[in-house]
Amino acid sequence: MPERIEVLLSEDEVDARIKAIGEQISRDYEGKEVHLVCVLKGGTFFMCELAKRITVPVSMDFMSVSSYGNETKSSGVVRIVKDLDEPLKGKDVIVVEDIVDSGRTLSYLLEMLRDRGPASLRLCTLLDKPDRRVVHVDVDYTGFQIPDEFVVGYGLDYAQRYRNLPYIGIVKFD
Ligand code: IMP
Ligand code: MG
Repeated sequence: MPERIEVLLSEDEVDARIKAIGEQISRDYEGKEVHLVCVLKGGTFFMCELAKRITVPVSMDFMSVSSYGNETKSSGVVRIVKDLDEPLKGKDVIVVEDIVDSGRTLSYLLEMLRDRGPASLRLCTLLDKPDRRVVHVDVDYTGFQIPDEFVVGYGLDYAQRYRNLPYIGIVKFD
């Protein structure tokens, strides 16, 4: 029996929230340029929509990481599968993520990027599951805090599917 998807956040709700975050970032970075760093693949849909809503000059770069070991091994060490094309030195960087779950990947990643000497480094996530946090991560911009459910859509996948859904849905297996 295939899984079914239950809508958690509608397309309109997600769009409205991204617009609001875009406006907030545009205010916060007035007179500056922002360099958006997308964590592939989940962050792509969110970053593209967000970038369209930012009115200060924007540049973008992409990176892909994978965790070492399995889920139960909580080293939090990540391997860079695809690194950024450009240096971060002196740039006002915002890392754009789909979701912060345990926080392991991001705390490691942020530390690694901080070592590259950006002028500033902030984190923007579409979704946050605070109940699941194992490692503390400072999130500067959050789309929505959601309950501890497995969600898909807007870049998030279940076995590489459903990334293209224009809303956020909960995967149900009943
Ligand atoms: P963590 O914060 O290090 O645990 O890792 C977060 C990553 O796990 C995200 O970037 C997603 O790729 C994946 N992930 C966590 N929760 C979900 C979910 O509900 N749906 C799809 N992917 C998820
Ligand atoms: Mg991700």
